[in-house]
Amino acid sequence: MKALNFTIPTASIFVLLSITLVTCSDLNNFLSCLATHSVSIADAILTPNTSSFQSTYQLRANNPRIFLSATSTPQAIITALHPSHAQAAVVCAKRHRFQVRIRSGGHDFEGLSYTSGVPFVVLDMFNLNSIDIDMASETAWVQAGATTGQLYYRIAEKSKVHGFPAGTCTTLGIGGHFSGGGYGFLMRKYGLSIDNVIDAQLIDANGRILNRKSMGEDVFWAIRGGGTTSFGIILSWRIKMIRVPPIVTVFTVQKTLDQGATELAYRWQQVAPRLPKDIFIRLQPEPDNNGGNNKTVRVSFTGHFLGQTNRLVQLMKVNFPELGLEGIDCLEMSWVESIVYWGGFPNGTSIDVLLNSVPTNQVFYKTKSDYYKAVIPKQGLETLWEELIDIGNVIVQMNPYGGRMEEISESETAFAHRGGNLFKAQYTVHWTESDGGVGAEGRYINLSRRLYNVMAPYASSNPREAFVNYRDLDIGNNKSGETDFEVAKVYGAKYFGNNFMRLAGVKAMVDPQNFFKNEQSIPPLTIPPVH
Ligand SMILES: Cc1cc2nc3c(=O)[nH]c(=O)nc-3n(C[C@H](O)[C@H](O)[C@H](O)COP(=O)(O)OP(=O)(O)OC[C@H]3O[C@@H](n4cnc5c(N)ncnc54)[C@H](O)[C@@H]3O)c2cc1C
Ligand SMILES: *[C@@H]1O[C@H](CO)[C@@H](O)[C@H](O)[C@H]1NC(C)=O
Ligand SMILES: *[C@@H]1O[C@H](CO)[C@@H](O)[C@H](O)[C@H]1NC(C)=O
Ligand SMILES: *[C@@H]1O[C@H](CO)[C@@H](O)[C@H](O)[C@H]1NC(C)=O
Ligand SMILES: *[C@@H]1O[C@H](CO)[C@@H](O)[C@H](O)[C@H]1NC(C)=O
Ligand SMILES: *[C@@H]1O[C@H](CO)[C@@H](O)[C@H](O)[C@H]1NC(C)=O
Repeated sequence: MKALNFTIPTASIFVLLSITLVTCSDLNNFLSCLATHSVSIADAILTPNTSSFQSTYQLRANNPRIFLSATSTPQAIITALHPSHAQAAVVCAKRHRFQVRIRSGGHDFEGLSYTSGVPFVVLDMFNLNSIDIDMASETAWVQAGATTGQLYYRIAEKSKVHGFPAGTCTTLGIGGHFSGGGYGFLMRKYGLSIDNVIDAQLIDANGRILNRKSMGEDVFWAIRGGGTTSFGIILSWRIKMIRVPPIVTVFTVQKTLDQGATELAYRWQQVAPRLPKDIFIRLQPEPDNNGGNNKTVRVSFTGHFLGQTNRLVQLMKVNFPELGLEGIDCLEMSWVESIVYWGGFPNGTSIDVLLNSVPTNQVFYKTKSDYYKAVIPKQGLETLWEELIDIGNVIVQMNPYGGRMEEISESETAFAHRGGNLFKAQYTVHWTESDGGVGAEGRYINLSRRLYNVMAPYASSNPREAFVNYRDLDIGNNKSGETDFEVAKVYGAKYFGNNFMRLAGVKAMVDPQNFFKNEQSIPPLTIPPVH
């Protein structure tokens, strides 16, 4: 068996404590277990009695919609200050039958990192956020609680010509974000975050810390894209940085319907996945009320180029002349400044904004996703525009595939959506009012489902694929009487394609008792599947 590389200290005072509390509640048993299994953990434990409990709980709950229907709060939050605190949380939660929800950045669209239908504790990783960069090997160890923004900032601090391919949102937790793949505007050139991960530290269901060697290649395969929640707790990832030019170019071109947006969006689908790898153009259609006049749709083409304006304009003239990109549309800047631009911050915002680990304005939202393998015909785009105008509070983002994503086979990591995809779409319906009249939540969720249904004829099918980082609890619908495994096969095929069965096999190997579990985790494959 693998060696334990952490020895559990036993402070005698805590042993005494656990004996005296043995007849108290499960929570107290759990808490005293923590104390006996770890040093100085008291400062890391918050219970509903602690004054900062609510604020800590809510600060990293990215989607306030979750609280509209959540039925319970955690029994405790362990804000781990040391890896041993996370190890103790596993050992003690197992012993005292609490479910553990692991939270790094709290951006799970369905709040699975901080809610549960059964008694649970939150293991909050935000304090474990060190970033250790080694320029000689161009690698770094990044702890789970670090954010994407912090990682980008620390890399840029060391080098103007290094970067890393990960999300465009700068408050994502590395722990959850990489687990589902992690994509951003470098995806066509360098693939996903996990394609540039070379090692990891994982706490398994027995509370041991494993690395790539001790976990073995099957587990290391599974945690790259399989949603680590099912396999253990990511303590840190070791990444290989990539090279970027000292100057990159960004642009945003916007067109409304009467400026030819439909034709351009139609053309974009054919062009964007086949552009040179150095160019990434996101398409973002959203409704525009046109200053109170007739409503329209405004389509933004947001571009990133690993090079300078002159070359970009030349390449665009050859490959996508219809967009009419000119030098005046383009901004040159360093790679880290382009992160700030793509993060949606106003031009001129200091890169210090990348150090903010929580976003400032929160909205209620419901998101769904699709993969497209064929071009949406113009008539399909027009149907989409009608939906956007009718719904009002909605944004669609389409991110082009191709390039590096075509070169990696679907079985190389657990992330299966590779060749053959033109683009991935995200549909987000959002609202700000908490009551918003009767049934705001129900109404918007219904609208998000209607939009999803309208796009069904054009999206991938059998299975209709989805992105696990865009968690959507709608897609694993449980027909009455189905076993957990049958339900999991439905969302498993959508999220992981042909990799699902191998993931279930790895799960059986490392966590046969299914300790690490949530509404859409991977169940252990214990019996041969029935066909
Ligand atoms: C505003 C916004 C923008 C986004 N932009 C992008 C983007 O550009 N690219 C992209 O790929 N995705 C994007 N996402 C999706 C994002 O990658 C996922 O929501 C991701 O899971 C967030 O990770 P987290 O640690 O912040 O979230 P959390 O809610 O903390 O965790 C997400 C999931 O991972 C589990 N988990 C968290 N930490 C650990 C850990 N240490 N070990 C094991 N399991 C863990 C949780 O239990 C949960 O199931 C975006 C999301 C939002 C809300
Ligand atoms: C919280 O406070 C209540 C009331 O004071 C007390 O009964 C309970 O034991 C406390 N719980 C914990 C976990 O400290
Ligand atoms: C709105 O559209 C209608 C029909 O296309 C047109 O007749 C009308 O002039 C438009 N109004 C404005 C303010 O643009
Ligand atoms: C962005 O800021 C730079 C300098 O800070 C300025 O030259 C440029 O015109 C601005 N661009 C836009 C689109 O506002
Ligand atoms: C949402 O749709 C369901 C099913 O069609 C319906 O029963 C429900 O009333 C709708 N809710 C709202 C708030 O519109
Ligand atoms: C599905 O429903 C059945 C009962 O109808 C239940 O036993 C099972 O736990 C459910 N599975 C999931 C994954 O919700």
